[in-house]
Amino acid sequence: MTRASAPGKIILFGEHAVVYGRPALAVPVTQVHADVEVTAAPRRGIWIHAPDVNLHAELASLSADHPLGAAIRSVFGPHPRPLSRFRERGGGEGIEINISSTIPVASGLGSGAAVTVALLRALSSFLLRSLSFDEVNSLAYEIEKLHHGTPSGIDNTVITYARPVYFIKGQPIETFTVGAPFTIVIGDTGIRAPTKESVGDVRKLWEADQARWEKVFDEVGEIAKSAREKIERGKKKEELGALMNANHALLQEMTVSSLELDRLIVAARVAGALGAKLSGGGRGGNMIALVEKESAPAVAEALMSAGAKRTIITEVI
Ligand code: MEV
Repeated sequence: MTRASAPGKIILFGEHAVVYGRPALAVPVTQVHADVEVTAAPRRGIWIHAPDVNLHAELASLSADHPLGAAIRSVFGPHPRPLSRFRERGGGEGIEINISSTIPVASGLGSGAAVTVALLRALSSFLLRSLSFDEVNSLAYEIEKLHHGTPSGIDNTVITYARPVYFIKGQPIETFTVGAPFTIVIGDTGIRAPTKESVGDVRKLWEADQARWEKVFDEVGEIAKSAREKIERGKKKEELGALMNANHALLQEMTVSSLELDRLIVAARVAGALGAKLSGGGRGGNMIALVEKESAPAVAEALMSAGAKRTIITEVI
């Protein structure tokens, strides 16, 4: 049997503008994760069990653009070796793939990318095909396109490397160091909102008035750059908080916030957060608040009182 796990993620700064080539910062969130287990099985075929999404199917029944099917086929490659070659791994002619995840779907925490990365790693190690980080990342990016249409690639990158990343679409991966650890409270609106839709709506705005939105994306890019510098220096958390608030205002302008997100963001600030913003695609899903470590429980409680379905306190190190 082989197993692999991949963390969730949050975007600290720069979502949406990152699709248009501006930098963004993202960090892994290890409190939530996707887990995949691959075992040899006596019955023929490649069987996929993903009870969280009520899927129990043989690979051949999944369409070419089904993200799980496509991820599995990408590991086998164009000329798959017969499964009997893996008999010595303890089974017969078949494989069972069990997928589970504690990352809520369509909520900005990278559930799709985490399942893909864990699946690519568990299956490739079962098949004795070793994949480098770069290979996992580029295969996962192809699957992200099936999920989201025109993704920047930030989700698969931060999840593959499981390190803080400063991401610019199409450029080599750049990790960054955190000068002094800081605490983030994540609040879930409980509203599922597919990234594909918010990304598509921002695209329509941009198509209608490119000059205006390029300027907005530039502002977001400047915020992300300046945030990286402050995080690396590890000082002036208040300034980092102010940058979060400024980034959220620009996301509101892009129409990707929502009443529920704004309610949680205001509640976090009132409860003492240094700054707060939505994180990920928006319209629902999760928001994040930068807090002093001691005030994290109070901010989490305020978020629950304001309607959050759950909270996670995470340390960025
Ligand atoms: C989704 O986590 C982040 C977005 O910027 C989309 C993307 O970068 O692909 C909204």
